[in-house]
Amino acid sequence: MSEDAEDVVVRAVGEEDLHAVARLWVEMRLEEAGLPDRKPRASDLSSVYRLAARRFRDPGRILLIAYRGGQAVGFYSGRIRGPVGGGLDLYVTAGARRRGVGGRLVEAALTRYRERGADRIVGALRANQACHPFWARIWTAHPAPLLSAREAAGVEWRTRSLVPIDADRDGGPQMGQGQPAGQSNSK
Ligand SMILES: CC(C)(COP(=O)(O)OP(=O)(O)OC[C@H]1O[C@@H](n2cnc3c(N)ncnc32)[C@H](O)[C@@H]1OP(=O)(O)O)[C@@H](O)C(=O)NCCC(=O)NCCS
Repeated sequence: MSEDAEDVVVRAVGEEDLHAVARLWVEMRLEEAGLPDRKPRASDLSSVYRLAARRFRDPGRILLIAYRGGQAVGFYSGRIRGPVGGGLDLYVTAGARRRGVGGRLVEAALTRYRERGADRIVGALRANQACHPFWARIWTAHPAPLLSAREAAGVEWRTRSLVPIDADRDGGPQMGQGQPAGQSNSK
């Protein structure tokens, strides 16, 4: 972990964090829409606030926020259905990237999925998304066997085990255990 990453605080979203989550969420949507410099509209903020509040109250959801130097700089949203975790949204504000914030959010999410009994996680990644190297790095640092992968309409769905690898029992690394950064490797 970098020194920067040590300054990052990641925690479960509380009611007091919902405005910050909504701001980050709208920022994420504007960036996805190719409008990173547009000022968020109050109407967008209030509708996303309601969405964040619904996820916050839903016990089947995981909602995390990251602060760095007292500023909200990222969030993670996921859900748990039975033994299956699902990553939905991950965003780090542009000025706070490459300082370990995204990695800390995902590590915290993986811990929570496991604590809540999930034994696998499913994630979707579009072929043109720039975050492939990020996920490659995550799974290199936190080896998790790839259970299945399928692609439909330019979206790649990958399921990974969350059961810790027992190298002694299994006689060594397994399929999907870490790939070099830069190689296509989704959630
Ligand atoms: C993807 C995202 C969450 C990464 O957050 P981050 O805080 O920058 O990630 P980290 O600092 O923890 O990165 C960890 C490692 O991942 C890799 N990585 C992250 N972003 C990368 C990039 N743009 N290009 C290449 N490698 C990258 C690097 O190996 C990095 O380590 P390094 O900085 O020591 O080289 C962030 O860029 C983001 O929010 N992007 C826009 C939204 C998005 O793409 N969401 C995810 C959808 S799948």
